[in-house]
Amino acid sequence: MGTLWEGRLSGETTDALKALNDSLEIDKRLYKEDILGSMAHVEMLASVGLIEKSDRALILDALRVTEEEIASGSFVFQAADEDIHTAVERRVIEIAGAAGARMHTGRSRNDQVVTDLRLWTLKSLDGLAALIVSLQKSLIEQAEKADETRLPGYTHLQQAQPVLLSHHLLAHAWALSRDFDRIIETRSRTDVSPLGAGALAGSSLPIDPIMTSEYLGFSETFKNSLDAVSDRDFVAEAIFVNALLAVHLSRIGEELVLWSSEEFGFVDIDDEYTTGSSMLPQKKNPDIAELARGKTGRIIGNLAGILTVLKGLPLTYNKDLQEDKEPLFDSFDTNSLVLTALTGIFDSVVFNKEKMSEATDKPFSMAIDLAEYLVHKGMPFREAHTMVGGLVKASIDSKKDFKKLVMEDDNFGSEIENFFIPEMAIKRRITPGSTGLEAVEVQKEQIKKRLEIQTSMISR
Ligand code: ARG
Repeated sequence: MGTLWEGRLSGETTDALKALNDSLEIDKRLYKEDILGSMAHVEMLASVGLIEKSDRALILDALRVTEEEIASGSFVFQAADEDIHTAVERRVIEIAGAAGARMHTGRSRNDQVVTDLRLWTLKSLDGLAALIVSLQKSLIEQAEKADETRLPGYTHLQQAQPVLLSHHLLAHAWALSRDFDRIIETRSRTDVSPLGAGALAGSSLPIDPIMTSEYLGFSETFKNSLDAVSDRDFVAEAIFVNALLAVHLSRIGEELVLWSSEEFGFVDIDDEYTTGSSMLPQKKNPDIAELARGKTGRIIGNLAGILTVLKGLPLTYNKDLQEDKEPLFDSFDTNSLVLTALTGIFDSVVFNKEKMSEATDKPFSMAIDLAEYLVHKGMPFREAHTMVGGLVKASIDSKKDFKKLVMEDDNFGSEIENFFIPEMAIKRRITPGSTGLEAVEVQKEQIKKRLEIQTSMISR
């Protein structure tokens, strides 16, 4: 078989054109969606009377054989197969003969490719959502195990106030919940069938887009054929969702890198997720955490790439749109690997509680509590802040023990000694959503409930 356009165009395509034009190597992985889309289309053609029942059976059989061949690796792709749609149709015609030549009735690759891609994206969003839930579970389990472990809470990467390790871990779990929500929202806009839009304007044949939409399990059907074949919002959105997720994973990765350094020593990452150095015998490098951070660059690049492809396109389909797949596939592939790896790290990570409390339990980290103590006693906060700040400065300047200076100060009573008991800093946090023991217990229940809802959504 020659090219799809041999009726209209003569002459051989050059190797250079083929190399630029062909997308088979990339879109091969859409074969299941492509075959499913064709099955829906053929069922519809038969049901509206555009093809005979006998043709329907021959085409469906040929599609099944083709699917098996591709799945098993016995399918022989040919030089003229420019994309997966061409390859599948070519094979169906080889197997089913004249019946096969009726398969593409009332359809264009323009509505076909975007149908495939929507089906693939829906499946991939679901897969990503499940991986997010796994990482959240792992974080929540570690939060449960962390008990009352304290570590310094940081702002500007400077030690600020003691916080519970559980509180810190759950902060990441909440960010992941928002990623989950964004997946669900993106899913709803992806869940629209474009099949039946034809090349751009619909068809003079009595095809039924709603029938194919329902067959494929879409919740909605396109309302405007021009929009249907040119809309790639769902691709851009899915990549954005991946990009922001990657940013979150990157921040987690960065923390693991910091925390596993000798200077922090807060975590010991299991050997399985680290590597050694080819030269320095003592090294244990947190490569996987670094890659969780580093891989983010390419996903952000994918987002910039797709938006740039889309920005200048006139309606409707333009071949530029073929460039939608690589960044989409890559974003899902990359994040899936990183999510799986980070889940593995958190399943096996060991937190060094001594190191953490050693870093936390310093008198200066009680400064805000001292100021708030004075507020309790009636001093305006700004004044209390200045007063405690003065004591900090005095302690640094005179190299005198901060606790001693505070105890000697007339503004404080003897009960202030209690304020320097590290556990108390956590116990004193009483506000909702805070790092206080009770607030974190409430939070744990909240995130577990949230996770239950999420789990029920992915197993639907
Ligand atoms: N390989 C193409 C793509 O991925 C399929 C659609 C091509 N349509 C066309 N009229 N050339 O976008």
